[in-house]
Amino acid sequence: MSADSSITKSAEELKEQLIEWRRRLHRYPELSFQEVGTSRFIARRLAEIKGMDVECGIGTKTSVIGSLTAGEGPVVAIRADTDALPILENTGMGYSSRNEGVMHACGHDAHTAIVLGAATVLAEEFRKGTFSGTVKFVFQPAEEWADEEGLSGSPYLIRSGVYEGVDAAIALHMCPWLPVGGVQVNDGCSMASVDVFKVKLFGSGGHGAYPEKGTDPIWMLGPVLQAVHGIVARKVSALDAAVVSIGQVHAGTASNIIPSEVLIEGTIRCYSAEIRALVAEELKKAVSVAECLGGSYSLEIQRGEPALNNDPFVNRLIIRSVEELYPGFRIVKAPFGLGGEDFGYVTERIPGAMFFLGCARDDGVRRDLHTPVFDIDEACLPVGTAVLAAAALKLLEDWPDEQT
Ligand code: NI
Repeated sequence: MSADSSITKSAEELKEQLIEWRRRLHRYPELSFQEVGTSRFIARRLAEIKGMDVECGIGTKTSVIGSLTAGEGPVVAIRADTDALPILENTGMGYSSRNEGVMHACGHDAHTAIVLGAATVLAEEFRKGTFSGTVKFVFQPAEEWADEEGLSGSPYLIRSGVYEGVDAAIALHMCPWLPVGGVQVNDGCSMASVDVFKVKLFGSGGHGAYPEKGTDPIWMLGPVLQAVHGIVARKVSALDAAVVSIGQVHAGTASNIIPSEVLIEGTIRCYSAEIRALVAEELKKAVSVAECLGGSYSLEIQRGEPALNNDPFVNRLIIRSVEELYPGFRIVKAPFGLGGEDFGYVTERIPGAMFFLGCARDDGVRRDLHTPVFDIDEACLPVGTAVLAAAALKLLEDWPDEQT
């Protein structure tokens, strides 16, 4: 039996197990950096796999890393994110969240179950002795949220050396806009860099009846908002991906008091590093409009994750895996949008690629990521398991010598 067909068979045989794991994780979701029960669950499952080396707490308290090694060869990492979101679940399913107000609304429960499945399947393949090299299973916490240092889970794992010596990394994400039987892939930049900006506009403030005696930052706010919202339309080429959105404006305490300060907060999303730098520069110019009106400003840009940059060679092996394992599948080639993904920190350093795995149920109901009704067709679980396992084996076999 070829490796490909034995992988689909093993993954299909694991289906009930994958569903059970995913539902267990779904029932007990945990927020970013707090995945204590989740990481314990993952470590236990990994420890049950013969030949698996398990390490916990590297980089963050709740990380879990499994390794399978068979002799010399390339090192491939498969990454799953493990955290949930502060959302009150409203799916009405029997496996709904038991932790009120916390929900796996981005499918990280499925990602975790799938990578546990890939670990199980790959351990079987390794036992046959046909492959040499190492596969690392990286269960990374805190993809959704950054701490007070502005860092999510991925950079902490990178700093601790989890990806040192790793030649290539792969990952997947649930794709609720495609049914099971579809995947979305894209070479190069596929998800956006995420920067948060905080602006303060300062004036003198004063009595609402005598605005001429002072400077009014709420008056300055109008032209500043226009200038900020004009950045992408007027300063970025229509061929480049970028978004600047303002999500918060706060000012004032009473109808007759002109405040001395206005706070603005927003998000900057870009694909290329050049556009990211350009938007930061233009943002400074846009808020400096306040100076022309007699006020002053402060601007702070907190740089978050870089864009997800999919390596074409790694992507090709993922595509080949899908084509060989599931010949009838639809493969959509298009970027994944302006959302962020902290796997971007990994693809910034080593060749890597993420693909989106169709998970929509066949009933026409929209169940978008990060909504209280998000849910998946669990038939996608063995598919994700098989594709990740096959792609990892192809990387072990085909990784170019000059790159190892
Ligand atoms: Ni996600």
